[in-house]
Amino acid sequence: MKIINSIVHMQALAIAPERGERRIAFVPTMGFLHEGHASLLREGRKRGDVLVLSIFVNPIQFGKNEDLDSYPRDMDRDFQLAEACGVDIVFIPTVAEMYPDGFQTGVTVRDISLPLCGASRPGHFDGVATVVTKLFNIVRPDVALFGCKDFQQLAVIRRMTADLNMPVEIVGMPIVREADGLAMSSRNAYLSPSERQSALSLFRAIKRARELFASGEHSIAVLEKETCAVIEQESTAAIDYVEFRDGATLHKLEVADGNTLLALAVKIGQTRLIDNTVLGEEL
Ligand code: PAJ
Repeated sequence: MKIINSIVHMQALAIAPERGERRIAFVPTMGFLHEGHASLLREGRKRGDVLVLSIFVNPIQFGKNEDLDSYPRDMDRDFQLAEACGVDIVFIPTVAEMYPDGFQTGVTVRDISLPLCGASRPGHFDGVATVVTKLFNIVRPDVALFGCKDFQQLAVIRRMTADLNMPVEIVGMPIVREADGLAMSSRNAYLSPSERQSALSLFRAIKRARELFASGEHSIAVLEKETCAVIEQESTAAIDYVEFRDGATLHKLEVADGNTLLALAVKIGQTRLIDNTVLGEEL
């Protein structure tokens, strides 16, 4: 497994004639890897001849009062997991090289970036779209894998690659959960043992919404009220949003169907967690 820090070096490998017909599969991450990331890497291993993982805590996708400085890091553990998943190249650029003095270009995906996390975290998806564009230009992947855990992020990236004719196939992968249902996230490391218990309210809320939908309740007003009630039972949980939207457009709806997305963002103490489900899909 090769570790590359320099952008020029990574790009040189990607565009070298020796690359030939070899397909590059790419998994961009911010590190502190877990089984969710590993599922993307394993699928990437099957889909490409060369598997590239990037680890870069991207400052421009964090808001002023967010957790950029405290974002968890553990390179040695990340390397072990990467190695076990068959990664060929770990690309770890520096902030100074990614965003040198004078940097002033951004990629904005308009409507689909606006609701949900886009509303709570203004500018977040501009930061994501910009860094993913840069990473695609450096790594030149044929296929890139993203998790449905960040449902809106995946939608933004699909829109961006289609709109800008980027020659890369985007693959979305299912949410990987802990045995008790908590969606895996690097940010789960912030949770105290009691917060870890409270965090289960997100999954409980998802299950409640799915049960109601399956039993014939399709009114979004009712579904929303019942879903929020599950979270509100938890005293340390503060709802950022609980919303039911069209899974393709992210538009608001009044009546749910199988393609309806339930997306949640909830603060457990200081930690903001997100989770989601599409009502007609398997959990
Ligand atoms: P990060 O949060 O490290 O996530 C990297 C990838 O892993 C994303 O595609 C995310 O959806 C996926 N992932 C995270 N938890 C998952 C889970 N429980 N199950 C399945 N997939 C999961 O998302 C980012 O980094 C950044 O925004 C990035 C795209 C790298 C741009 O900076």
